[in-house]
Amino acid sequence: MCDFPFPKMSDFLYDRLADEFAGLIDTRILAPGDRLPSVRQLSSQKRLSVSTVLQALRQLEDRGLVEARPQAGFYVRRRSPARAEPVAKGRLSRPTFVGVNDLLMQVLHANEQPGVLPLGSAHAAPGLLPSARMQRAFAQVARRQPDLLAGGSCVRNNDEALVRKLVLLSLDWGGPLDAGEILVTNSCTEALNLCLRAVTEPGDTVALESPTYFVLLQIIESLGLKALEIPTSPRTGVSVEALELATRDGAVKACLLIPNGHNPLGCVIPEDNKRRIAALLAERGVPLIEDDIYGDLHFEGERPWPIKAYDTAGNVMLCSSFTKSVSPALRVGFVAAGRYFERLLLLKTLYSGVTGAVPQAALAQFLDGGGFARELRHTRRACAGQVARMTDTIAEHFPSECRISQPQGGFVLWVEMPKDVDALDLHRQAVAEGIAFIPGQLFSASGRYRNCLRLNCGNPWDERIASGVKRLGEMVRGG
Ligand SMILES: Cc1ncc(COP(=O)(O)O)c(C=O)c1O
Repeated sequence: MCDFPFPKMSDFLYDRLADEFAGLIDTRILAPGDRLPSVRQLSSQKRLSVSTVLQALRQLEDRGLVEARPQAGFYVRRRSPARAEPVAKGRLSRPTFVGVNDLLMQVLHANEQPGVLPLGSAHAAPGLLPSARMQRAFAQVARRQPDLLAGGSCVRNNDEALVRKLVLLSLDWGGPLDAGEILVTNSCTEALNLCLRAVTEPGDTVALESPTYFVLLQIIESLGLKALEIPTSPRTGVSVEALELATRDGAVKACLLIPNGHNPLGCVIPEDNKRRIAALLAERGVPLIEDDIYGDLHFEGERPWPIKAYDTAGNVMLCSSFTKSVSPALRVGFVAAGRYFERLLLLKTLYSGVTGAVPQAALAQFLDGGGFARELRHTRRACAGQVARMTDTIAEHFPSECRISQPQGGFVLWVEMPKDVDALDLHRQAVAEGIAFIPGQLFSASGRYRNCLRLNCGNPWDERIASGVKRLGEMVRGG
């Protein structure tokens, strides 16, 4: 994200101290179970204030690297024995019509019953998101721009200040985007819908990762399209070789990918593969619809670039929103539509008129206020820590044959269970005991992933979640 109003991460003393200890833990100079020097010792050794040291230690705790023990100090966390990652399904499927909608609505409905442990839908808890600042932004807009509620336009969709902010944010990942290709939408789902409508007709085939985010399958189903599932590695994402093969005969009319912090695998496509995908699809005239909603929530290093950054042909439609990083209720997203802009603009007008002026102005105000880069760092660290804790708890309580994804971003985990476990049966049992998750079958057009499940790690770790995951492990064992 656009970093320039704030010091870089390493300019904060507590960040530097936390990074120094993360390095010692990573290289095992500090081993699991080792005690860290006390706050006072660190403060005098490093000549830092007690509050700076405490902030660094809390950050290491958020990252899942250390734990505070009452009256005893901070210790390097013991990690459960590493588990194997799920394996990519090697087959390139035949294009299939999709039929997930009915089942999915039943599962989502069951997951949303009051009091159910929220391990289903992929949402970060409000406490991890900058909700208070967003609320203030709404109040400011209501006060300063009262005419926004009174006025209206049938054609002027974009808030110009917001578009300027989106362009500035893109500088962080290989931008700038061209302001003239941006269309603000009612969140990412609308952007994805519009893009698919713009470049396909009923009966066409769309290539996508396998497994993939179930709403993509729902949209494909609702538009009467066929899905072609491309083998996808939990570590390096979609197979470029398989994509090359799949797009040879001209039957694939569009490609739909989640390259950064994939849902449900959490993988990030290596930058070189992104470059190859951009070139391949442009050369073959296959439009790419790219869902970058988790791009800002990477765990390590620099923000990964979207494939859009490597596109020189205007062939990529980059879709995203602020659902995962600011508020799921905001419903403001966008598409940077490349050469498909005019078609998308017409479709947008037909299907939803314009995007609400008030939430757009509030988001622009929020982004203008400063602090988003810092807030994102907080959300990212918290998510990484929660994913680490969930991984440890699964490794401890699920059968040893289970394989667990190792996400590089986002906040969901993908678990491959023993072959004889049916995730839909498990789901029925789990919701009856008040535990939600998403069964693996919903991530495939062809009924794959029967023995897989996706868990949301977007909530701060607590006893209730720990015992829910433990209980789920007992159920998987047949209990
Ligand atoms: C990969 C992906 N794309 C899109 C969405 C939906 O985004 P929005 O709420 O902005 O429509 C989600 C939400 O879970 C998602 O995981």
